[in-house]
Amino acid sequence: MDKAEKFYITTPIYYVNARPHIGHTYTTVVCDAIARRKRMLGVDTWFLTGTDEHGQKIERSAAAAGCSPKQFVDRISGEFRALWQKMRITNDDFIRTTEPRHMRGVQAMFTRLQERGYIYKGSYSGQYCVSDELYVDAVGPGAPCPECGRPTETVHEENYFFKLSAMEQPLLKYYAEHPDFIRPETRRNEVIAFVRSGLRDLSVSRTSFKWGIPVPGDPKHVIYVWLDALTNYMTAIGFGSDDPKDKPKLERYWPAEVHMIGKEIVRFHCVYWPAFLLAAELPLPRSIIAHGWLLFEESKMSKSRGNIVRSETILDTLGQDALRYFLLREIVFGQDGSFSFDALVQRFNADLANDLGNLSSRTLSMIARYFEGEVPYPSPSQRTPADEAIEKQAQQTIADFHTQFEQFHFSRALETAWLLVGAVNKYIVENEPWAVAERDDKDSKARLATILHTAVEALRIVTALAHPIIPEATSRIWTQLGLGEIQQLDLRGLGWGQIKTGTKLGKIEPVFPRADKSVIERMQHMEQERSEPTLSPKEADKGGAPAESKTPETGAPLVPDVGLSGMPSKPTQSSTGAPPSAVGDKAGASPSEKISAEDFFKVEMRVGEVKVAEKVKGADKLLRLEIDIGTEVRQVVAGIAKAYDPEKLVGRKVVIVANLQPRKLRGLESNGMIVAASLGDEGLPVLAGFLEDVPIGSRLK
Ligand code: MSP
Repeated sequence: MDKAEKFYITTPIYYVNARPHIGHTYTTVVCDAIARRKRMLGVDTWFLTGTDEHGQKIERSAAAAGCSPKQFVDRISGEFRALWQKMRITNDDFIRTTEPRHMRGVQAMFTRLQERGYIYKGSYSGQYCVSDELYVDAVGPGAPCPECGRPTETVHEENYFFKLSAMEQPLLKYYAEHPDFIRPETRRNEVIAFVRSGLRDLSVSRTSFKWGIPVPGDPKHVIYVWLDALTNYMTAIGFGSDDPKDKPKLERYWPAEVHMIGKEIVRFHCVYWPAFLLAAELPLPRSIIAHGWLLFEESKMSKSRGNIVRSETILDTLGQDALRYFLLREIVFGQDGSFSFDALVQRFNADLANDLGNLSSRTLSMIARYFEGEVPYPSPSQRTPADEAIEKQAQQTIADFHTQFEQFHFSRALETAWLLVGAVNKYIVENEPWAVAERDDKDSKARLATILHTAVEALRIVTALAHPIIPEATSRIWTQLGLGEIQQLDLRGLGWGQIKTGTKLGKIEPVFPRADKSVIERMQHMEQERSEPTLSPKEADKGGAPAESKTPETGAPLVPDVGLSGMPSKPTQSSTGAPPSAVGDKAGASPSEKISAEDFFKVEMRVGEVKVAEKVKGADKLLRLEIDIGTEVRQVVAGIAKAYDPEKLVGRKVVIVANLQPRKLRGLESNGMIVAASLGDEGLPVLAGFLEDVPIGSRLK
């Protein structure tokens, strides 16, 4: 491999309107594994991640949390950065779109496009999806966004436009000449079909909100968030900087070899970004790789669906290698894949604790016991076809692993490596070194040495290959093998027969203690504890979770029960799905107990509109609702089925308590409560509403 070879890889920059979850971790870990392996191959690697912090969505989320956009973005961006540090992600830089270096660079990009005649002033009238930050061809106020189905907003604005229509042919030409530009093939075909169907000019500035980068010379406008965000890939390595020190980095690393993204942002990366770059006369990235989604409870893991799992829960129980291995082995890259705690523990126990863990501990402890902890000499006269078969398989494994990994077939590459682990474990069982050790003759001693040498060589090879994916465990096995720091290893020369006879093993310790069933419950419990509501500005200042009092046994917030339907505040109610009681009823705080205004203000009530309503199977009192509260669509499970037909609820405005901890009801996560009066002994719910028309998202005070 050429020493001068370089490799620049990026993750999307993550929105800071939601805290990190394992969906984000998935992309980051994939990139981290690729970057680590490239470095082990001697390639000069640059790995970038960061956070996307501008736009109306963020502005609104900050307002909903009652803090300034700056406070809001600082805190959530900090959470992303802290998580990657905790996971020892090897990113070389972390870009924030609110940093001066980025803002300057985006303005430089805007000016460059303007100077080349690709930006003009015009006006836009039409629908906009705030959630996707996308202008859409939907008709009429509230029409659903074709991308995400959320209601769109009507905007009339004077805007700057980018001449996207002029890029139609240049883009198609570029795709045709660079067949590997968009991968996998299915995404490439979708993009080509989309561009062929015609491109309209793109509005690239907004005047309706302020939280963004001002258009140079016209600060009433802020630059469209996607033009802002996409440019991060270049601003992070010095684009737009006047400092001559930044120039070599930009020249060295741009264009990027890989932009890794989730499939929902293909259009922005494969149409808009190359169009901007072609127009700006800048080199295009070499490839854009789109992976599938991580699903949890059968839908895309996302904050708005309330079905997220946090990485910390897994890191604090099974450790980072368990999570990394699962994500790369279990999910077939490019396709959607499901996450479950059961599957995670099963993979951990089967592949890591049993297969690799056993191979490592039995091989190393036998060398310790029979050869005083020194790698023995393999006697050629004692080699059998079984040893030769393992050697052959190991060599083939190295070749196949590299090919499969390079093609982003991570799961297959790991499967290949683990076939070798399985074969060596079988070889050990069949060759019974413990029985050979019982025999006290020279040939037996030489045979024993050969068996253990074969086993330890295979273990070394698997450990080296797996290092980019499970860096912690493999580092420990490497030290136990007596080989020092695995970081020093050059993967290019990896081959059979390289461990030196006489190598002194390190201290032998188990690498993967088996996980028992209780760990699943523990993780589920931790998830519930962790899903706390959005922080208020005071809490944001503290940088911590809200100091909400909790009932010791359920972890439920001690919010007085004021006749709210949807998330019963008592465990008995959550199991029956019965609607909670009305104000001052027996279930809640007694009417004489006064709360302070400050306590009341902690309850964030908002106007929402029911978008979806349906019965919950097997629960005659529960409805599953999807409620648009302006900043997002929430799933709420409400005990109102006896009083309301689901069909009649769609389109109705309701009041929802938006900052409650999510709870699970009948396996469904409920993210908020609907406010209702509770009538009679049965507690028949009657939804609160307004006589006047009230916009979605309005706060009740
Ligand atoms: N800010 C934009 C990206 C701008 S890049 C110039 C954005 N941010 S995001 O926070 O919504 O993150 C999107 C990325 O996070 C996805 O493209 C994907 O890489 C990752 N994922 C978030 N949820 C995911 C899953 N449930 N499954 C897999 N990946 C997920 O879009």
